[in-house]
Amino acid sequence: MNQITLTLPDDFHLHVRDGDVLPQVLSHTASQFRRALIMPNLRPPVTTVASALAYQERIKDALKVATQQGALTATNNFQALMSLYLTDQTPSSEILLAKDKGVLAVKLYPAGATTNSDSGVTDIRLCDDSLDTMAQVGMPLLVHGEVTHSAIDIFDREAKFIEEVLHPLRLRHPKLKVVFEHITTKDAMEYVRDAEVSELGPIAATITAHHLMYNRNALFTGGIRPHYYCLPILKREAHRLALLDAATSDSSRFFLGTDSAPHAKDLKEHTCGCAGCYTASHALELYATAFDSVGKLRQLEAFASFRGADFYQIPRNHGQITLQRQQQQVPNHYAFGNDLLVPLNAGEVLNWSIVR
Ligand code: NCD
Ligand code: ZN
Repeated sequence: MNQITLTLPDDFHLHVRDGDVLPQVLSHTASQFRRALIMPNLRPPVTTVASALAYQERIKDALKVATQQGALTATNNFQALMSLYLTDQTPSSEILLAKDKGVLAVKLYPAGATTNSDSGVTDIRLCDDSLDTMAQVGMPLLVHGEVTHSAIDIFDREAKFIEEVLHPLRLRHPKLKVVFEHITTKDAMEYVRDAEVSELGPIAATITAHHLMYNRNALFTGGIRPHYYCLPILKREAHRLALLDAATSDSSRFFLGTDSAPHAKDLKEHTCGCAGCYTASHALELYATAFDSVGKLRQLEAFASFRGADFYQIPRNHGQITLQRQQQQVPNHYAFGNDLLVPLNAGEVLNWSIVR
């Protein structure tokens, strides 16, 4: 297969930050995707419906700026879907308001688990009232699935989260709809694939392009490689293969979420570098490369364009995008406000390109 046409895809896990960097990063996503679910881990975090809707307006304004600047290479009529940041104090009334105002989901960041998670949840049991309300109104909970205690090895944090937090949580809230975000392990994949959903609520998982393409060796190829550092951290090859198997399978429980997470070059290439890989500029090409590596390109459309929309019970997109087997070189960097932004695979040649 040298060419593939997909229904316009959605990115169900995206960080775009705020302020003067918005037009630049949004132009990348809006040129490939019809919709993206925007993560709420700003500083301060998006903990109220009012702040989520204000953020959505700033995103719309930034898209207009990007369009005026000619930064979009396609006009997909991009739409930002919003999420709310769960805290120990989120009241049930905010969940009801979120449902009413069209906020799509609520995100659980265990306190200290990742970038801007200091206001996250210290003990998920403190949120039981809000979670009950979410289960009642069908508001999905998105989980950053890692335990945070320092005694647990960084490579084991996701697997530990399943037994310590996720499964007990689903037992306590049997109707709760859950998305296990950016899964990185065979353990998480098997938990989602095999989860009982007749007694317990629906569950699905997003998978990033970088976790389909790389194992943890990428962090240390010839030296330390900060642009491959993200959370949850890259894992062993056996885990990568398990994720690739799931993404390219017929299971409706796995769909696309890039977790593209821009950080300024200086803050990635730093003595204490930030976690996050920037993939929004070439997301579809990276996924196509991963699917192609196992001869499963035909499965890409379901993963990228159908299953997420179906899980969130929103309409599938109209419109199409075509990828072809044609080499392209990834730029060394992009502008990022007054800083630079280094994409994953900077300077490398990819074998897939979008037909414009
Ligand atoms: C994300 C970020 O930078 O906001 N970083 C990351 O490594 N993925 C946060 C997150 O999704 O964990
Ligand atoms: Zn993320």
